Amino acid sequence: MEYLPDKNSSYKDVAYWDERYRTEKHYDWLGSFSSFQHLLENVIKKDDSILILGCGNSSLSGDMYNAGYHAITNVDYSSVCISVMSAKYSSSPGMTWHQMDVRQLAFSDASFDVILEKATLDAIMVEEKSPWEVSPETSTFIHQALTEAGNSILNSTGVPLGCVLSLLMYYFYTSNYKATQL
Ligand SMILES: C[S@@+](CC[C@H](N)C(=O)[O-])C[C@H]1O[C@@H](n2cnc3c(N)ncnc32)[C@H](O)[C@@H]1O
Repeated sequence: MEYLPDKNSSYKDVAYWDERYRTEKHYDWLGSFSSFQHLLENVIKKDDSILILGCGNSSLSGDMYNAGYHAITNVDYSSVCISVMSAKYSSSPGMTWHQMDVRQLAFSDASFDVILEKATLDAIMVEEKSPWEVSPETSTFIHQALTEAGNSILNSTGVPLGCVLSLLMYYFYTSNYKATQL
């Protein structure tokens, strides 16, 4: 409760996240690695190069690292987050941290085999009533983020060499499925 913003739209603001990460040590949105491990281990190989979008102070990257995934690049637009997390994982070779907006990724083509997001789209879509029908602004934002992600897994001739996995969308689908089974 301590970190609840006055208005939901703050989840879109980097100032909100910077302030939160100054004191919050750790929080895992939607669930931790163990909730998604069965899904991820089916599709991600241990030597894949992985990009995590909007990493926050989640344990996902650290838990994946401990599970044997050692090429993990993390981005978040909060400089406070990146500074805290890069210090925390300074002794994990292969794990890197970059302050970057997901709409303007600075990686060259085909840099990654897998791109993962967990609740980052959620922050972007916070003002929407339904994830299935979003405003033109949110649609543009997500289009920009997915285009950037797409470029990071396409080679120079436009052939996809990797995949983008949304744990948020997986969460929506499985929650909805469980709800309709009750
Ligand atoms: C709801 S939190 C999720 C954090 C983490 N992925 C997790 O699952 O616990 C959303 C995160 O996305 C980051 N974020 C929001 N918009 C972003 C953007 N445009 N570019 C980069 N990071 C962004 C925020 O700073 C925050 O860390």
